[in-house]
Amino acid sequence: MLFWKKKKNQHQVIEKEVVPLSFDTSALETLLHTIKDDTGVDLFSKNNIIETKLKLFCERKGIYSFRALSEGIRYDKQLYQDLIDLVTVNETYFYREESQLDLAVTFALRIPHVKILCAPCASGEEVYSLAMMLSQKNRPSSSFSITGIDINAEAIEKAQKGSYSERSLHKLPLGLKEIFFTPEGKHYRIRQERFGSLHFQKFNIFEPSFTALGQFDIIFSRNMLIYFDDAFRLKTIEVFAKMLKPEGKLFLGHADIIPENSFFEKQSEHRLSYYIKR
Ligand SMILES: C[S@@+](CC[C@H](N)C(=O)[O-])C[C@H]1O[C@@H](n2cnc3c(N)ncnc32)[C@H](O)[C@@H]1O
Repeated sequence: MLFWKKKKNQHQVIEKEVVPLSFDTSALETLLHTIKDDTGVDLFSKNNIIETKLKLFCERKGIYSFRALSEGIRYDKQLYQDLIDLVTVNETYFYREESQLDLAVTFALRIPHVKILCAPCASGEEVYSLAMMLSQKNRPSSSFSITGIDINAEAIEKAQKGSYSERSLHKLPLGLKEIFFTPEGKHYRIRQERFGSLHFQKFNIFEPSFTALGQFDIIFSRNMLIYFDDAFRLKTIEVFAKMLKPEGKLFLGHADIIPENSFFEKQSEHRLSYYIKR
């Protein structure tokens, strides 16, 4: 079977990748079940696209069946992490849904030392956006801490480095680039020294040790639940119910619909919504 792929930044050059005819796809379902059971990410509706992506991944790793991959990830931690990094979608950018961030900042300003969790944070833009907004409101950096977690190791590494392309900054309000970033070739490095307590950590939200991060005043979980089914959405908000302080607020993305549940009730303010504990 032949697969054709354009090489990055070389639009004219076509690279041929060959997957042997004998590639055994029979364990695809098993593999997708493992990913879903571990992470919540439901790839069943994207079966064809994901099959091609996974075959190319296997080929690069010298693996010639999904069964071998399924077995390999059980003992090879790096292979497992590479697979998770491949199948998770890390799309994010600075000041995404600014009005919602603004509302959260309004709440944060009422709390003397505010603890915020961004789960997931992908490559960190949400965490830095909140820190920039608090700093713009003259909140001393010692008065807030923001923790960003994500299951994708590459994304967390990028968040820790804090170096971003122009594309990530396209929604940044005027003037902020000069205040908070240092140009570095084609990239912009965030001036991390301007903020006190920002932490990034690789976590799967379903790992039991995740709740050991403690309790937070504000939890952001935007654009992850869209990849889960209702059962995993419920599991997720149960975890957040444990990690949110009694008076805390949970912010979800606009497309993150949660099933009826006994943990949270929806509130609306200025046509924006968030959740409080029942
Ligand atoms: C589209 S990004 C959202 C980033 C950011 N919150 C935003 O809205 O811009 C979704 C992220 O969810 C992460 N994710 C998916 N399942 C996860 C899990 N079980 N635990 C932690 N992160 C997960 C993915 O790695 C991905 O980076």
